[in-house]
Amino acid sequence: MPRPQKHVFVCTQMRPPSHPRGCCAAHNGGEVFDEFLWHLQQRNLFNQLQITATGCLGPCGQGATVLVYPDGVMYAKVTKADVTQIIDEYLLGNQVVAALKMPSEFWE
Ligand code: FES
Repeated sequence: MPRPQKHVFVCTQMRPPSHPRGCCAAHNGGEVFDEFLWHLQQRNLFNQLQITATGCLGPCGQGATVLVYPDGVMYAKVTKADVTQIIDEYLLGNQVVAALKMPSEFWE
């Protein structure tokens, strides 16, 4: 198996509706993951990219969150409609999608 150039982690964490932190599952994290997976399969990108559904990445109010290594770039409020842009511009084109990048204050 070739080493992937980028590894995409999509938060699909679930919590009860009354939980104060909320969760990415409530912001369609599963749908975002499925959309990434569909594109990777349709475009045969598994030699370049790897994708993993993951638990909480931290900034739950910004879901659905997507974290990409080795760059350490995190995207916020990602929807199914954003996935093609992230793949084409960033994962394949190496240009960060500025409009979706996690605001810096969430890392302080
Ligand atoms: S539940 Fe997704 S970042 Fe916390």
